[in-house]
Amino acid sequence: MHDTLLLFGATGDLAQRYLFPSLLHLLRDRLLPGAFRIVAIGRSEHDDAGFKDWLRDRLGDVEARDSAALDDLLARTRYLSLDLNDVDGMAAALSQYADRPSVSYLSTPPDLFEPACRGLKAAGLLEAPSRLVLEKPIGRDLASARAINATLRSALDESRIFRIDHYLGKAPVQNLLALRFGNTLMEAVWQHRWIASVDIIVAETAGVDGREGYYANYGALRDMVQNHMLQLLALIAMEAPSELCADCIRDEKTKVLRALRPMTAADVATDSVRGRYGNGVVDGEAVNGFTHDSDVETFVALRAYIDNWRWAGVPFRLVTGKRMPSRTTEVVVSFKPVSHWVFERPDRAHARPNRLRMRLQPEETIELGLMGSLAAPEWGATELQPMSLDLSMSSTPARRIAYERLLVDALKGDQTLFVRDDEVEAAWRWIDSVSSAWQAAATPVHDYPAGSWGPAAASDFLPVTLSTNGHRRHGAKPAGKQSK
Ligand code: BG6
Repeated sequence: MHDTLLLFGATGDLAQRYLFPSLLHLLRDRLLPGAFRIVAIGRSEHDDAGFKDWLRDRLGDVEARDSAALDDLLARTRYLSLDLNDVDGMAAALSQYADRPSVSYLSTPPDLFEPACRGLKAAGLLEAPSRLVLEKPIGRDLASARAINATLRSALDESRIFRIDHYLGKAPVQNLLALRFGNTLMEAVWQHRWIASVDIIVAETAGVDGREGYYANYGALRDMVQNHMLQLLALIAMEAPSELCADCIRDEKTKVLRALRPMTAADVATDSVRGRYGNGVVDGEAVNGFTHDSDVETFVALRAYIDNWRWAGVPFRLVTGKRMPSRTTEVVVSFKPVSHWVFERPDRAHARPNRLRMRLQPEETIELGLMGSLAAPEWGATELQPMSLDLSMSSTPARRIAYERLLVDALKGDQTLFVRDDEVEAAWRWIDSVSSAWQAAATPVHDYPAGSWGPAAASDFLPVTLSTNGHRRHGAKPAGKQSK
């Protein structure tokens, strides 16, 4: 395990909210090497002591619980204020850390990836076996992603490049693979012959809040669908790898992304809806709408098709939005009706096909909808009613921040939960088809009130599990803790 972490963007939001707290937890739990050291690099003109005071303030809540771990974290950290565009300055300040294999983590905007690579290379920090971790977004479209990947490749080998999609660090997301490939029942039915549709919904109560500049250039399609949602789709749709090696899994995910049918201007009117939240109420509090000159969407609903033998004709509905009534990430697999229906009650039209609902956050639950007569009167064995097999994690194990897992894997060199160059590009290719189709068809961005489930035009895209759960439609359920 490498024991030197160079963290670029150390005074940024992600570092404050997730990266330093993750490091603190890992140190507390003794999951990092004894000689672990952190070089924190930012643009802010702090000196080392000033940065540590600042960080101590930011981690105040955590400190209250674990001040020894915080002292340990700060003792291992050294802050440097550096201009990433100054190659010579970077080389001079950082070459001293090339004495041991390191991991450089760029939690910076993507336009700094290229200069940062030049500086790191000049400092000797990209020599094997040192590694590079990159935060999303990897570009804004296929062309810019390719340019970034080419820059990275010229600096170091793909086997040492770790592109983060923090959803892959979430245990319930990894459980999708466990469920799919650890169960005969799933193996038997996981294809178009038995599955009618798949819904993937990532609803957030949070708004754009403070990230307007970035968001106005990305929107929900590029901010959420290109990465997190397509990763979920790929995990659900991929073929079984022959073994669990990093590239075995990433090969299979890439094949799925490549098989996504490009969206055309003729499809977008039926297969997509864009929305943007206006003023409204979320969790009982009035919130302002997202106003910006750009016509960017904060909500998107898409119907995607994977053109291969397993998934021919099965719609994958992808819905994500900000300022929704509740925080919900879930995957719902709806099965086809049984081939021949013999019961009178209910009649065929009212039989409810089986449905597997996997809730990933905030709670982790798995629910299988079945038909049966257990609830029927004594002589009503043929009177079927919907029943549900519920697997609620009543004692859900305390979940780590996704970044804890990803930091450990990067330090160890395990790429399984990181996104490969061709995978990122395949995802962008499909996203580009959607955005060009929107442009060609002049797809409107509908308003929706904050605290609702998006524009009315999107109701056909929402999983039935949302509409059958009346209280959630009306936003009465408190949002869970927002954690990455
Ligand atoms: C980030 C997006 O990648 O994921 C944010 O940039 C979004 O806009 C966040 O809020 C959602 O992550 P999580 O872990 O809270 O579901």
